[in-house]
Amino acid sequence: MTKIQHYTYLSITSKKESNNLNYKLEHIGIAVRDLEVSIKTYETLLSTNCYKREIVESEGVITAFFQTEHTKIELLEATNEKSPIHKFIQKKGEGIHHMAFEVEDIKNEMSRLKKEGYRLLNNEPKHGADDKLVCFIHPKDSHGVLIELCQ
Ligand code: CO
Repeated sequence: MTKIQHYTYLSITSKKESNNLNYKLEHIGIAVRDLEVSIKTYETLLSTNCYKREIVESEGVITAFFQTEHTKIELLEATNEKSPIHKFIQKKGEGIHHMAFEVEDIKNEMSRLKKEGYRLLNNEPKHGADDKLVCFIHPKDSHGVLIELCQ
């Protein structure tokens, strides 16, 4: 049975910086089965055109980007069966795949998080979509959400 914690007070103090402006939500990645179909859906939904499509060979994906006021939406379709997006859709279906935070110094953040005990899916920054250096954090270490750091 799941244990449910009941809180009797709300703590608003933290030893961490309360406004970490170093982490900017750069984009939200959504795994889709059919990029062209989902581009039409999001073009209508956001009332804006997809401004870029890009193939990222190393990840086995084709991506499409939309700009919104505060962040971007990245649609991802698998280009082969080994693609992490293919595996994700097999397991969970379409949906939010990752959140990407832009940081000022990705190497620095990677070593800080490593020291804090987070598992990084790549030990060196790698080239991702949008001409960025990226690193992924294991979703099990962030309560089920795959986090991408990018610079
Ligand atoms: Co991404």
